Amino acid sequence: MKAFVAFIVIGAVLSAITIPVYSVYDTPELAYSHFKKIQSYSKKFLQMSDVALTNFEDAQYYGSLLIGTPPQNFTVLFDSGSSDLWVPSVYCYSSTCRLHHTYNHQKSTSYVSNGKKVTFDYGQGGVSGYLSQDTVTWGGYKIPNVTFAELTNMPGSEWGSDKFDGLLGMAWQSLACNGCSVVFQKLYATGALGTNNSFAFYLTNVDNKAGSTLTLGGYESNLSQNDWVWHPLLSQTYWQIKLSGVSVNGKAITGTNMKAIVDTGTSILVGDAPIVDQITKEIPEIKTDCSNIKSLPNVTITIDSTNYVLTPQNYVWKIFQDGIYECTSGWQAANFPSELANTLILGDLFISTYYTQFDMGNKRVGFATAIQSSST
Ligand SMILES: *[C@@H]1O[C@H](CO)[C@@H](O)[C@H](O)[C@H]1NC(C)=O
Ligand SMILES: *[C@@H]1O[C@H](CO)[C@@H](O)[C@H](O)[C@H]1NC(C)=O
Ligand SMILES: *[C@@H]1O[C@H](CO)[C@@H](O)[C@H](O)[C@H]1NC(C)=O
Ligand SMILES: *[C@@H]1O[C@H](CO)[C@@H](O)[C@H](O)[C@H]1NC(C)=O
Ligand SMILES: *[C@@H]1O[C@H](CO)[C@@H](O)[C@H](O)[C@H]1NC(C)=O
Repeated sequence: MKAFVAFIVIGAVLSAITIPVYSVYDTPELAYSHFKKIQSYSKKFLQMSDVALTNFEDAQYYGSLLIGTPPQNFTVLFDSGSSDLWVPSVYCYSSTCRLHHTYNHQKSTSYVSNGKKVTFDYGQGGVSGYLSQDTVTWGGYKIPNVTFAELTNMPGSEWGSDKFDGLLGMAWQSLACNGCSVVFQKLYATGALGTNNSFAFYLTNVDNKAGSTLTLGGYESNLSQNDWVWHPLLSQTYWQIKLSGVSVNGKAITGTNMKAIVDTGTSILVGDAPIVDQITKEIPEIKTDCSNIKSLPNVTITIDSTNYVLTPQNYVWKIFQDGIYECTSGWQAANFPSELANTLILGDLFISTYYTQFDMGNKRVGFATAIQSSST
């Protein structure tokens, strides 16, 4: 029995790997300008425009990824709200591409051509290119035969952040472009993760602070209170689960067929206006100088029958700049398309409060109370 237990533990250590992820806003200045941008979204604007789920201003956590043989180095956003991998191509002549590492398939001996044209439509405008196949190395694991997009057209300055070159989607195959690989699933298929077909995101709750991690093939047991509760997925598209209810200070908001999507690519708590308007109506105006945080109500999000409390410290976004704190609400209403009616996106403010396991093998999401790096 002892030997058996030791075997399991060693197996776990060998198969799971934790890699650090970094916030796009790694200087106080960048964090602050992002914060101001969100603060300036007027409600009216959000009511009128659909906020794309993969919103590049909001996508926050990136890390490194190698493509090809010998490996070419990229930084990519890890986005649980989409499913594709793309990086800029050396054949991209948009000025944005010149600010980034670009993929040169001619320099890779493991490249296999495909050439199928592909377009991704995002909130900030579309990008396009074609599919290619190559070996991807992620967290030290080699993943052969990944079909991904090399982009030849990336108009617009929104893509110009020098923090990341591309995107690595971590949602389900059904959201991926036709013929494209979901990289995590390809990694699992190599056997490198053993039988553990899951990954976990731990995000620190302080901007700019190191310590956020993505674990492939398991989770770290020292980052939460280990009070894991699992929730079955409603569909294998987004990481979409049932939202049983939301209440603010005990007052229940109403909505039929409410859903939640767990999305590492969204900073805040964005939701369909009919839901979020009811929540924000119950929350007094948040003073910019943060002086009334303590008097604000808790918001309780009920998933299946578990209550996840967000205190004002969790849902108010707080930024320290030039020696003072500034606060803004983490709740934003948007007009979602009809298939996402009454949906709430649980973004990074939620994930930093509740350490999240994305379990592809069992088609479920698990949350545990995160050990937070600060309680201010
Ligand atoms: C890739 O880039 C990252 C970040 O700059 C660096 O830490 C890593 O060592 C590089 N890896 C390779 C194989 O060049
Ligand atoms: C990858 O594709 C090549 C041909 O393109 C094939 O020979 C090889 O078996 C494939 N490897 C895996 C692991 O699928
Ligand atoms: C493997 O995945 C499950 C999710 O089903 C997780 O709860 C379990 O603890 C993981 N194992 C390791 C070693 O992390
Ligand atoms: C958690 O444990 C891992 C080893 O499993 C270690 O590398 C890491 O530093 C620990 N993190 C914290 C916050 O204690
Ligand atoms: C809000 O939730 C926290 C954590 O669960 C709890 O300690 C606090 O008493 C709650 N506040 C109110 C006003 O219910």
